[in-house]
Amino acid sequence: MDIKKIFENNRKWVDDKLGANPDYFKKLSEGQNPDILYIGCSDSRVTAEELMGLSPGEVFVHRNIANMVSNLDLSVMSVINYAVGNLKVDHIVVCGHYYCGGVKAAMQSEDLGILNPWLRNIRDVYRLHKTELNDITDEEQKYKRLVELNVQEQCVNVIKTAVVQKAYRDRNITVHGWVFDIHSGKLIDLNIDLDKILKDIMEIYHLD
Ligand code: CO
Repeated sequence: MDIKKIFENNRKWVDDKLGANPDYFKKLSEGQNPDILYIGCSDSRVTAEELMGLSPGEVFVHRNIANMVSNLDLSVMSVINYAVGNLKVDHIVVCGHYYCGGVKAAMQSEDLGILNPWLRNIRDVYRLHKTELNDITDEEQKYKRLVELNVQEQCVNVIKTAVVQKAYRDRNITVHGWVFDIHSGKLIDLNIDLDKILKDIMEIYHLD
């Protein structure tokens, strides 16, 4: 990749935006008011704005390996706190994707160094859903199901935060679990029943 090409691309992009709207960057510089927080995988094939058809200013984005929401990760916790507490987003999306390398690695018995503690969170998801997953004989189906269950558990982790619990109580905030299907390009809504999950876990995780 010729890095210079990126600056050329950028100049073209600026020209295109200004061609369509001379005030485009003036408007952007006035501030952001996104309605959505998107938490997705760092995978280069799974873009955030592009696959949702959204533009700069419309979505607050956090990406890491395997779209994890770990309570010890200061980065994702800061993002959630800022997006919900300050930007007042109405939607939080956790978006996984089939054929996720992070999820695949967590299904294997291999020492992956610094990735071990990160991927162990996915092994914990496997353990929580071991009965269901072990009943799936087809390895590819099991892999896809673990991607979905990982999204579900990361949504649960979002709800464990005090700022989201407060937003649930005070205003209309919705947590969504989605999967991007790399084979078709389609976004799939897992329709996770978070109200039900919330009722089940709040006895333990209630903070506010
Ligand atoms: Co991935």
